[in-house]
Amino acid sequence: MALIIECDNLIKIHKQGNLEVVALQGLDFAMEEGEFISIVGKSGAGKSSLLKILAGLDRPSAGRAEVAGVRLNDATPAELVRHYRRSVGFLWQDFTRNLLPYLKAVQNVELPMMLAGVPTRKRRKRALALLEATGLRSHAYAGVSTMSGGEQQRLALCVALALGPKLLLADEPTGELDTENSLEVYELLRNLAHEGGLSVLVVTHDVALAQRTDRVIRLADGRIATQGRRGASELLHIDQRGMVQLPRDMLTEAGIGDEVRARVVEDGIMLKRGDVPDEP
Ligand SMILES: Nc1ncnc2c1ncn2[C@@H]1O[C@H](COP(=O)(O)OP(=O)(O)O)[C@@H](O)[C@H]1O
Ligand SMILES: [Mg+2]
Repeated sequence: MALIIECDNLIKIHKQGNLEVVALQGLDFAMEEGEFISIVGKSGAGKSSLLKILAGLDRPSAGRAEVAGVRLNDATPAELVRHYRRSVGFLWQDFTRNLLPYLKAVQNVELPMMLAGVPTRKRRKRALALLEATGLRSHAYAGVSTMSGGEQQRLALCVALALGPKLLLADEPTGELDTENSLEVYELLRNLAHEGGLSVLVVTHDVALAQRTDRVIRLADGRIATQGRRGASELLHIDQRGMVQLPRDMLTEAGIGDEVRARVVEDGIMLKRGDVPDEP
């Protein structure tokens, strides 16, 4: 499998006047084509800084970042613009950033194609196909302002995908949506990755949503703290008194606080979040 993202010892220092803020300090990260990965971590951990570098919206201070075959360190400004426009789709938490409110839904999706010189009929066809795939076909000729938040974020997704990027970067795309709409967006992203071959990297602070992706990466202080492949297990030691110590990272990733529900199942013991009611 080819790599879509490769970062070696990536460093990002933001300069603000005399102040220097280290956002990424030696990050190593690789992503394969077609993966659906989430990045979690506290506010200030460096998540947005990483995404902006990968999108070509900002430059690394040191280290190496290669995305979709482009070496972002020594790319010219024109190459970075091309990278951002053609190789990458970017989905913002504030989906209105992807949308023009006075255009109809279908016109919003067509706009990037129009600017790229895609012929009229071809772009209408592709726009309608994207709207169909995201469940928005019946809203094609609706004004953006008449659509709900969830619909607008799905429309923003269509806009981000209009030019057929290889990589979709999404920075807290469901931060302003309720659970139901958030799950719908994640379901779409998963399908795009698993069936459409799109590589999807999504930032979230919601551990339950992160669990819906193939791999969860935790950023802390500008470095990767843990990487868990969903479903992968860790071998833990049971001491003489029958005590097991669960790794802190695993607990956080599973959203387990100080209570856990244990149940004997066919081939072992299953641990579940204590605050989730038992199945009847
Ligand atoms: N443009 C900027 N100028 C100065 N400091 C910044 C800038 N962008 C981010 N930072 C700082 O870099 C650190 C990481 O920020 P960010 O990447 O936004 O983290 P996250 O998205 O995980 O909350 C924070 O300390 C933040 O204040
Ligand atoms: Mg952020």
